[in-house]
Amino acid sequence: MADLIQKLQRDHSHMARLLKVLEEELDTAAKSDPPDFQRMQLVMKYMTRYPDEVHHPREDVLFARLLEKAPAVGATISTLCAEHRVLAVKGQELCSVLDAAATEHVIRRDALETPGREYIATLYRHMRFEETEIFSVARARLGTEDWLVIESSVDEQRDPIFGDSVESEYRDLYAYIFSS
Ligand SMILES: [Fe+2]
Repeated sequence: MADLIQKLQRDHSHMARLLKVLEEELDTAAKSDPPDFQRMQLVMKYMTRYPDEVHHPREDVLFARLLEKAPAVGATISTLCAEHRVLAVKGQELCSVLDAAATEHVIRRDALETPGREYIATLYRHMRFEETEIFSVARARLGTEDWLVIESSVDEQRDPIFGDSVESEYRDLYAYIFSS
């Protein structure tokens, strides 16, 4: 019934793993060692595709239905939907910084450090907020018909890293995640 919530929580744990990779690379850069820009670019390529294009739109569908059943969570939902938009913009901005860093090889440390740490902190906080403030309310307030409507409104899209098979461009990243 609440399969979607399970999927969303699974997505969150996958995103947290990838944020940890980003954090480790920023820690490396903070010690003046060269970070693995290609690894960071792949993480952000994933973040701006699967979470921004699949995960967050699915949550938007859930939030819209929940708003009809539990109007009291309206302010929370408005905040979360706004954060989805902000995260998409911040993610694209971080991709641009990484692209510049990878091609020019010289960037100011804070040009990567500041947006990188901010993106990580924002997404962590956002996921925790969703889980504590919304997912439990959705489980309690939505019924079978609501879940059918929600499930019929979301596309089944493959996760390129954590799905049934790993897309070729992400194989090294996948191996790195599960070996560290
Ligand atoms: Fe989420």
